[in-house]
Amino acid sequence: MRLSKSSALVLLVFLAACAHKPSDKAENLTYVGLADSKNSFVRTVAPKDGKCPTVQFAKAPGEVDVLPMQEAKFDSTTVCEANLPEGTKTVIVGERQISIPESPKRIIIFGDTGCRLKGNYFQDCNNPNEWPFARIVKAIDKENADLIVHVGDYHYRETCNDPVKCAPFKDTLGYGYRAWEADFIAPATSLLQAKPFVFIRGNHEDCQRAHEGFSKLLTPLGENSCPQFQETRYTSFGNMLMVNFDNATLSDQKLDPKSPEMAVWRAHYRKMVNTINSRPETEVWLMVHRPIWGLAPNWNGPAAVLPVNLNMQTLTKEMPLPKKVKFVFAGHIHNTQISTGNHPVHVVMGEGGTALDYYDAATRRLIPAGFTVLPSNHGYMVLDKDAQGKWIGTVKGYEGQTNFVCSLEDPKMPCDAPVKSEVKK
Ligand SMILES: [Fe+2]
Repeated sequence: MRLSKSSALVLLVFLAACAHKPSDKAENLTYVGLADSKNSFVRTVAPKDGKCPTVQFAKAPGEVDVLPMQEAKFDSTTVCEANLPEGTKTVIVGERQISIPESPKRIIIFGDTGCRLKGNYFQDCNNPNEWPFARIVKAIDKENADLIVHVGDYHYRETCNDPVKCAPFKDTLGYGYRAWEADFIAPATSLLQAKPFVFIRGNHEDCQRAHEGFSKLLTPLGENSCPQFQETRYTSFGNMLMVNFDNATLSDQKLDPKSPEMAVWRAHYRKMVNTINSRPETEVWLMVHRPIWGLAPNWNGPAAVLPVNLNMQTLTKEMPLPKKVKFVFAGHIHNTQISTGNHPVHVVMGEGGTALDYYDAATRRLIPAGFTVLPSNHGYMVLDKDAQGKWIGTVKGYEGQTNFVCSLEDPKMPCDAPVKSEVKK
């Protein structure tokens, strides 16, 4: 269907007026995942036995077309899906629209969002203080962001041993849609239906765990098998390139650099570096799940800070990241930390809702120079440019309150608290 220019303009004005109305209903939820220009996608999670809605897209005012959706299944749920045509500026569903930014000015990063239920490990998913992911989403709804990046680990509801404590959650355990709905789709609905996402794969979405839901809900179409790693995705925003490099299944234990497994990862990594070098964009943000220069506290023994990930460090020593890689963003460790030094500014942002990683006083004394590990608090990071064109990362808590302002391009003193100045969009 193609609308006349005048009626399309009226429609767009009307849609703009109606945009950003959050809903708590996870029915007919339509969202956008950005990848390469040919592999960005739109999906709709339809009600059980529901029909696919009419989804439209616009490349310019007056050029509104219907997007043909294919019907697929995940578990017992209908998932309607389509590739997003190249050059799409707006995705339109009923009264809602999702704008695809040409050059995002405000970007939200968070990760590690699900509620951890595994064996004897119990996080109370019904307590919004213990699992505040829905509160974080509500805070982000108000940020007027252009783009949302989830750095992986969406799904945490695997098993639960205690028959009393686990009773409220027994229907949402495992790797089917109900667990995905409870852990991610339902609490993130208002954000998913309003903003485009870049979805990074976490190790919780590996081939032994929640890969099926990740493939069917959050990856480009046609990737329904479970690869060791997905193809690297390159999303271009004018002069800025966002690179989605899947290292979800790369062990945190050091591998023999001469092993066949490392040879596979080396090829994956080098292909990415060579592609970045061949691209015209001059500012690159690298998105991974497992950090390259992260520090994890030692959970099982004396105080220590453990480098994560040693294999990624091996690869970057062999073949350094290109100079135009300005930032690396990661999750996996459940706190906020910034590492600077002889590599791009490296940010871990893994405080999106799951149980936090804490550093006790003895562990904090071991943190080496060049690392800033902030006090652990659930929340997210807002990235804006300041008046000098430098990116500022504001670390916010689950009520949207500013906890730290990090001058990410100033390696000497990356984070200040309390706030000295507000960053205006
Ligand atoms: Fe992880």
